[in-house]
Amino acid sequence: MVKKVRVGIVFGGRSIEHEVSILSARSIIEALDKDKYELVLIGIDKEGGWHLQEDSAAHLLGKELKQITQHKDKEPLSIVPQRSEGTLVHASSGKSPAIDVVFPVLHGPYGEDGTIQGLLKMARIPFIGAGVLASAAGMDKEIMKRLFKEAGLPTARFITVRRHKRDCYCFKDVVSQVGLPFFVKPANAGSSVGVSKVKTEEDFLKAMNEAFSYDHKILIEEYIVGREIECSVLGNEDPMASLPGELIPQHEFYSYEAKYLDEQGAQFVIPARLETHWQHQIQELAIRAFQAICCEGMARVDFFLTPDGKLFVNEINTIPGFTKISMYPKMWEVSGLPYGELLDRLIQLALERDNQDKQVQTSHQIGS
Ligand SMILES: Nc1ncnc2c1ncn2[C@@H]1O[C@H](COP(=O)(O)OP(=O)(O)O)[C@@H](O)[C@H]1O
Ligand SMILES: [Mg+2]
Repeated sequence: MVKKVRVGIVFGGRSIEHEVSILSARSIIEALDKDKYELVLIGIDKEGGWHLQEDSAAHLLGKELKQITQHKDKEPLSIVPQRSEGTLVHASSGKSPAIDVVFPVLHGPYGEDGTIQGLLKMARIPFIGAGVLASAAGMDKEIMKRLFKEAGLPTARFITVRRHKRDCYCFKDVVSQVGLPFFVKPANAGSSVGVSKVKTEEDFLKAMNEAFSYDHKILIEEYIVGREIECSVLGNEDPMASLPGELIPQHEFYSYEAKYLDEQGAQFVIPARLETHWQHQIQELAIRAFQAICCEGMARVDFFLTPDGKLFVNEINTIPGFTKISMYPKMWEVSGLPYGELLDRLIQLALERDNQDKQVQTSHQIGS
């Protein structure tokens, strides 16, 4: 009998997207082929404690995964780096489930930003998706846009403001640089948290306060009037792009309210109704954006398409929403790659990268 691959699903986490992560994890857990994979479920609570989900079997038998089950004595789980491969250790029982590959299903800061990727790399545990560099670069909107610009990708004009310099930016100067209205957003966030559309000087002050409550660095960005088109990318060295999809926000923009609080907050059209030349151009730009941040595994690249025919790359998400109805897997499904097969491919890509990493010499022997 072929040995099953042990997949660690890490979900929950400290970010605002904790609940979304649980929903993504639930779909993944249900869809992974139990003949091929043995699952180890690891929940991270909102305070950052790791908990082995003891009732994994119950989750797999259809019980709804709604929240992280805290370990009885609240004894958290930890990762212990070893010489050959990492193990997870339960502080109280000393139990250490060996894991072949981890799927970090964590959206936003403390998950999508390179932090868990660094931890897993230190512990020599292979994982799905972008590595440390691409995760961090994709999370920080300033660095992301600088890399896009350097790769010749069209992005909206922007100004970066650091907290200690915020008084240097007056409304009039900002308007002269990016026009009006404009957008204000934290550099490192997600789910539209702290994102505002500014139309007046009064809005500007409020928007700055709001964005600075989530980060020390914010972006002020030119407003792009256009359709919101997204595209899924999958692969390592030779990534491929899916058919694009479109989201049509029913609010003034695709705000946090539109995303999570209003069931009718947005309409999704997958695949997007686009002429073939736009579809190809979007796919090409999506792959270039993926490569501009040195991404691996997967990413969703988001665009604006203006009425006068200009495309702008808005952002890249290295751990996109992953429920069965999320854009990333849906765009693959309409492109001919069903959800379960997408998961197989991601696991395969993670293991391939790990094998390649093992070929790279990490030390230099003097005199050899
Ligand atoms: N420059 C912009 N022009 C027009 N709309 C924007 C702009 N920036 C953001 N938005 C709107 O705000 C939403 C959230 O912004 P985004 O930059 O994607 O942040 P997040 O990482 O939180 O998703 C976008 O989906 C879009 O609706
Ligand atoms: Mg976005």
